[in-house]
Amino acid sequence: MKETSKTSMLQTPTPEASAWSRSELAADPSWIFQLTPAQAQEVRAAVSAVNAKNLRAGEFGKEDFPLPTLAAVMPEIVRQMEDGRGVVLIRGLPVNPVDDEDATKILWGIGTYLGRGLKQTERVNLLNIKDNLVGHIIDQGMDPNAVNADRNRSNADLEPHCDPSDYVALLCVRPALKGGVSHIVSSTRIYNELLEDQPEVLPALYSGFYHDLRGKGADGHEVTSRRIPVYTYYDGKLSCNHHPATVYTGAKKLGRELDPEEQAAMLAMREAAEREDLKYEMDMRTGDLQLLNNYTILHSRTDWVDAPEWERKRLMLRLWLHNPASRSLPEGFVGGYVTETKHDVAKQTRVL
Ligand SMILES: [Fe+2]
Repeated sequence: MKETSKTSMLQTPTPEASAWSRSELAADPSWIFQLTPAQAQEVRAAVSAVNAKNLRAGEFGKEDFPLPTLAAVMPEIVRQMEDGRGVVLIRGLPVNPVDDEDATKILWGIGTYLGRGLKQTERVNLLNIKDNLVGHIIDQGMDPNAVNADRNRSNADLEPHCDPSDYVALLCVRPALKGGVSHIVSSTRIYNELLEDQPEVLPALYSGFYHDLRGKGADGHEVTSRRIPVYTYYDGKLSCNHHPATVYTGAKKLGRELDPEEQAAMLAMREAAEREDLKYEMDMRTGDLQLLNNYTILHSRTDWVDAPEWERKRLMLRLWLHNPASRSLPEGFVGGYVTETKHDVAKQTRVL
């Protein structure tokens, strides 16, 4: 599969393990890591160690968060993210649903073994964590349809998309009273399905879309300066970069409608991502950590109903991770996307 010319259009289905269907993922338990009581105790002890040093999430490395036996499992988790299913669920982390601060330390501490944390936005940094390195995904009462809105600050549903980092880690601190269900689907598998059933939409997906920067443009531009491909096939790897919300609001800001080919391509992605035989429902409980490779897996959620008190509202803590050993990507794919995080990281760590 390795090619000498680095970028081209993939014409055959990719056989990668990340191209799973719902039933294939359900039949394979190898991506679920259930902590033993002893491993959960290691995590508790590591949190006590950073608390004793007065270190907060974002301020310590793995040497400050020792995991005597669990550390040996981490390379296998990274392997699965890169070359396996592209999804890992760590279940049974000792998260106290009324201690958000300690939960940030558990998330950050585990993350120190998996990659480098990336900056998020101040708007989801509700615990004042250094450099916005941990995001608080909770209903902040945001109108999801307002200009420059981030639906992550509301209790609205999110359509299947990926985040702007190599991996996204989501730690469930508290589930919703009702709803707020997480779904994942393989974008690699979607590609294989489209190649088979609707190959006519692929050119528009390779050519990609402008994205709304939602007021976060580095130089005042509200929309990316170029199209970002939804799919790219580079150096023998198929990668996906799909974020419909900012495609639609980006088109609005540009004052143009998506053309019929673009609309058909977006619709094909959405319909495939919502196919019952492809999407997998994850019932996230307190102490579950979902890890996704953003280049191969899309995620979504349903809307939800919360308990009235803030302390009982659905809370997911989010970490964006960069793994320097992750796949190489062309600049046109990573550059200028949404928060520009990928581009910044790419400039620092990758030869493009
Ligand atoms: Fe997301």
